[in-house]
Amino acid sequence: MKVLIIGASGGVGHRVASRLVAAGHRATALVRRSEQAETFSAQGIDAVVGDVARDRVEALADIIRGHDAVVFTAGAGGRDGPEATTAVDGEGPGKVAQAMKIAGVNRFYLVSVFPEAWRERRMDDDFEHYMVEKKNAETRIVLTDLDWVILRPSALTNEHGVGTVDLGLAKIHREIRRDDVADTLIALMDRPEIRRSILEVTGGNIPIANAVDALTRSHGQA
Ligand SMILES: NC(=O)c1ccc[n+]([C@@H]2O[C@H](COP(=O)([O-])OP(=O)(O)OC[C@H]3O[C@@H](n4cnc5c(N)ncnc54)[C@H](OP(=O)(O)O)[C@@H]3O)[C@@H](O)[C@H]2O)c1
Repeated sequence: MKVLIIGASGGVGHRVASRLVAAGHRATALVRRSEQAETFSAQGIDAVVGDVARDRVEALADIIRGHDAVVFTAGAGGRDGPEATTAVDGEGPGKVAQAMKIAGVNRFYLVSVFPEAWRERRMDDDFEHYMVEKKNAETRIVLTDLDWVILRPSALTNEHGVGTVDLGLAKIHREIRRDDVADTLIALMDRPEIRRSILEVTGGNIPIANAVDALTRSHGQA
């Protein structure tokens, strides 16, 4: 499997890239700066420079062509104001979906967010804007005829993965390790019959492979 990772220099993205290659797949890291591309190349991971906010759909299609699947785990991270959040988190996935259509690539894995994440903390307007844009992106993707999977992780942490999760259609929001999100994405990619599903994943005690198997059984997708 050859997978393009958008957001490959990010916390989840670089974990997905390195794990895919370790598992014998091919990964292409889409990064915004050439020095990031060199870092990936030094690790034996193909890299291409691109930007989902700035690049035209046709240019993204040229990057996507020839891959079997696309993972979108990019996010503006609130670092460049609400406009960047709109362009990357909100409009980015839909733009990539259009580019995938042109490129003839069908399998799209979108990393989104639990709708109720951190709501108890009474976050600021920028955070609420981020949440709205994440949902806008989901609504655009579910209207496409791509084989999409939207994965909503709970709050992300950087501790070493434990290899277990709680995965399903609706879960209680807790926390999850980025390692475990990356491994869940790869387990889902290994099961292409799981498609056109919105899934929530948080920390839990079910081994990731079993959690994915249970999903296919309980939802009749196997
Ligand atoms: N943080 C949380 O607790 C949390 C919870 C649930 C879901 N999420 C979502 O999960 C995903 C992964 O989160 P993370 O914390 O691992 O991400 P992250 O470390 O913040 O990485 C974000 C990535 O997006 C890239 N990016 C930003 N703007 C871009 C653009 N215009 N074009 C292409 N790439 C661009 C960044 O590239 P540069 O290196 O060039 O900046 C970086 O690689 C995000 O979508 C995030 O919204 C986060």
